[in-house]
Amino acid sequence: MVAPTAKKLFSVTLRIWRQAGPQQPGKFVDYPAANVSPDMSFLELLDVVNDGLTKDDGEPIAFAHDCREGICGTCSCTINGKPHGPGKGIATCQLYMRSFADGDTIVVEPFRARAFPLVKDLVTDRSAFDQVQQAGGFISVRTGAAPDANSIPVPKEDADLAMDAAACIGCGACVAACKNASAMLFVAAKVSHLGLMPQGQPERDKRVLAMVQMMDAAGFGNCTNQYECSAVCPKTITHDFIARMNRDYAVALFREKFKPASNASGGAG
Ligand code: SF4
Ligand code: FES
Repeated sequence: MVAPTAKKLFSVTLRIWRQAGPQQPGKFVDYPAANVSPDMSFLELLDVVNDGLTKDDGEPIAFAHDCREGICGTCSCTINGKPHGPGKGIATCQLYMRSFADGDTIVVEPFRARAFPLVKDLVTDRSAFDQVQQAGGFISVRTGAAPDANSIPVPKEDADLAMDAAACIGCGACVAACKNASAMLFVAAKVSHLGLMPQGQPERDKRVLAMVQMMDAAGFGNCTNQYECSAVCPKTITHDFIARMNRDYAVALFREKFKPASNASGGAG
């Protein structure tokens, strides 16, 4: 039997954005980290650094996290200039130290976008996404006797696309990666996953108009087809959804403009 070889530990320097609050000045501070295992997650390394800071009566680095499984979308920060770091199709919590080399300096900063104001260190306020979601990211159904799940046929292609769009975890990486801080990929995913399903049809026009309007009001920029958003999306949501939303938006706008006076509620066919 061959004994397992010990994992080679290494050292890195974390260069982290520290800012006590939204009105305070911020700056990068270096934190050397030794004995880093390649099997450590990036967030575990931040935990270790924070343990050391706490023991020395220092202020721990504020960073957001919850599930640590790529589900909740809270672990948002930019690592070496890329939202969620060097991996593809992963959130920050799924990034492992084996992605880095001995002696690396790893630059970590919060998502930077006007609509995501800084709270502290690496934590930003992304409630603008909640506002967009609340503007139309729901369906209204009658409560009571629920129909059998299989009684409404859905074409396989639509079901697959809806599932792809529903994978969005609302992390905000698409906004942070975009030079315009556009939220089009997020909004397109939310609009599409409901708009592709039969249950989403009654409010389809109203939904896309309200969500796009709220997106603009929340201070997100416009899309200029750079596609940085889909390149960093941890759920690899394609920018094709943006084109789909633009079509939906144009149709809804047209119907809104030319709807008969008596038909006040809109709706898509
Ligand atoms: S579209 Fe992708 S990058 Fe944007 S919020 Fe959703 S999961 Fe995050
Ligand atoms: S902590 Fe939940 S997605 Fe990263």
